[in-house]
Amino acid sequence: MKETQEIKSMFDKIVSRYDFLNRLLSFWQDILWRKKMATEAVNKETQLVLDLAVGTGDSAKELLKKGAKVIGVDISFEMLRIARGKIQNDFTPVSASAYELPFRDKIFDAVTCAFGIRNMHETEVALREIHRVIKDNGKIIILEFSLPSGFVRKPYLFYLKKIVPSIASLFSVKTAYEYLGSSIEGFYKPEDFTELLQNCGFKNIKTHSLSFGVVYLYVGEKI
Ligand SMILES: C[S@@+](CC[C@H](N)C(=O)[O-])C[C@H]1O[C@@H](n2cnc3c(N)ncnc32)[C@H](O)[C@@H]1O
Repeated sequence: MKETQEIKSMFDKIVSRYDFLNRLLSFWQDILWRKKMATEAVNKETQLVLDLAVGTGDSAKELLKKGAKVIGVDISFEMLRIARGKIQNDFTPVSASAYELPFRDKIFDAVTCAFGIRNMHETEVALREIHRVIKDNGKIIILEFSLPSGFVRKPYLFYLKKIVPSIASLFSVKTAYEYLGSSIEGFYKPEDFTELLQNCGFKNIKTHSLSFGVVYLYVGEKI
């Protein structure tokens, strides 16, 4: 798929600045968001988690700290290479697309995806694949940006569309961070994404608004 190739090469190119810009542009909040995702994903019974769109492995690291074994899937080799360098034990990086996961049905206790689903334009295809590989009673946990409402919306849009690309241009990655803004604007509203999760077979969906609604955490079950 052409679109997936473009996304892949964009992430391959920004990999060396990715972690630093995540920290800087989120004012270090991204660390807390991923911790919250891991807390929702892993409990005493959780053994194997698929971290989809694992990127440079920061989300996988939080899952490992909670005691799960993690398989990390990504389409970007460069991202996976950094993740492998950071994490040695209980972590298996796999190069694959969310649209065609190379796993049998019902093998994961949970599937997590931090800031990845927005890049999967065939969102429903990806969610149905996720549903297929989760065990019965297993969990889906998705962390994704959103546009806040109320008084935060206007200043946030200014930050996202003007300040973020300007900072990114200092590191020669302006285009990728312009894409960040437009992809957040183009992504589902929380209530629409919740409905899509339900349509794809997930139940008992809980949504958590984080940092004034800049980020949402979606937790659902496969029943
Ligand atoms: C914004 S990064 C998030 C990385 C990581 N989860 C984190 O929290 O920093 C998005 C990742 O999604 C991956 N990605 C995009 N489309 C994908 C697809 N169709 N299948 C698998 N990975 C994909 C990209 O290569 C990239 O590494």
